[in-house]
Amino acid sequence: MRTLIQGGSVVSTAGERRGDVLVVDEKIVQVGFDLDGADSVIDADGCLVLPGLIDHHTHLAMPTGGTTTCDDFDTGTAAAAAGGTTCIVDFALQTDGSLKRGLEAWHEKAEGRAHIDYGFHMAVTDASDTALAEIPDLVSGGVTTFKVFMAYKGAFMVDDLQILRVMRSAAEVGATVLAHAENGDAVELLVREALAAGRVDPVWHGRTRPAHVEAEATSRVIHLAGWCECPLFVVHVTCEQALREVQRARDDGHQVHAEACVHHLVLTEAEMARDEFDGARFVCSPPLRTTADQEALWAGLRQGALESCSTDHCAFTLAQKEAGRGDFSLIPNGLPSIEHRLNLLYEHGVRRGRLSLGKLVDLTSTTPARRFGLAPCKGEVAPGADADLVIFDPERPVTISAATHHTASDYDPFEGWTCAGSPRMVLSRGEVVVDDGRIVSAPGRGRYIARAAG
Ligand code: URP
Ligand code: ZN
Ligand code: ZN
Repeated sequence: MRTLIQGGSVVSTAGERRGDVLVVDEKIVQVGFDLDGADSVIDADGCLVLPGLIDHHTHLAMPTGGTTTCDDFDTGTAAAAAGGTTCIVDFALQTDGSLKRGLEAWHEKAEGRAHIDYGFHMAVTDASDTALAEIPDLVSGGVTTFKVFMAYKGAFMVDDLQILRVMRSAAEVGATVLAHAENGDAVELLVREALAAGRVDPVWHGRTRPAHVEAEATSRVIHLAGWCECPLFVVHVTCEQALREVQRARDDGHQVHAEACVHHLVLTEAEMARDEFDGARFVCSPPLRTTADQEALWAGLRQGALESCSTDHCAFTLAQKEAGRGDFSLIPNGLPSIEHRLNLLYEHGVRRGRLSLGKLVDLTSTTPARRFGLAPCKGEVAPGADADLVIFDPERPVTISAATHHTASDYDPFEGWTCAGSPRMVLSRGEVVVDDGRIVSAPGRGRYIARAAG
């Protein structure tokens, strides 16, 4: 099957250039001018042709806080595709003490359900000798990134000794450690004090996880990684103080990489103070911050201290959020956002002059593909790459709403927001998976991608 995507502006990290893209079966074979010889033509006139986005930070069907995130690999990847994402890297969790069992469990969750391609990171929640001994086999199976949580005490959190052990084991096999950087002990103390004082509303979630708690953990994990000579990726940097730690380490030559997540760029802490229990919709960790922090994050993305932008999609329904009515510490942490990253970054980044189009592609596709071992198949519109493509119409406005989104969550944190542009069509390995906003793919067509070390 030969498909020609004709007359669009093809975007790479270098910027946009008018051109046609010839796809044969699953692959891009040519990018150039006046191409022909196709069985079918997709008219991309007036549109941007982007490499499919990679979301390297998602939590689908993940047990947490006494419940499970409400998007499985069917609804979650359908929503991702609707927003222009053609590959995710989801966080598998160590299960019954074993990394291998965790990986098997996540393969079972994804098998037969995914609409787009997927890989896995592995979260190590108990760095026992037997778990660490499994790391080389996971790397051989394409899981080359291992996450440690420095927060969520009593659940996912590991202490410094465990972090050092994970880093030593990962470094030996060329793997990267990902860190959720918040001082979990400090959070625990602040939460206990708040609850004892009768402060139970969602706004206290943010107040018990201040910026310095994130900055201290960021600084500490950078030092731990440096001692172990282990490549480090700090997930969801949210504030200027933590970003400064990343920047300083990079200036000193440390192998430290970091991301921002889209909700921290466009939503502020004010949302958690909404009346009634509405603030619970916005409870995530680290929490939403100030507008000054947002501007620092945008600058970090532009200047390179933050190399990518993912979603940290971690969706719950309003009924699930109810668990924390009367005790903010029991509100499940996370927001649904997997579908909106491209539209929001185009609207709040490109259209407002904060990001160039080339930077947008770099942050959401090209750099994640390289960092997480998905290149050269993913991350670029180039001959030889998978035909994972977004035909983005900058003049196809959308208004975000739970009534029309594709996640299983029954609310949307961006309800009523309008974005000027949106994907007209999305292709995954040459197959149209989204057509005029409608999901036209079948669950199960997505493939597991065994990743190389980044
Ligand atoms: O609130 C969040 N981010 N929930 C998902 C788990 C994590 O910390 O990444
Ligand atoms: Zn996290
Ligand atoms: Zn996360």
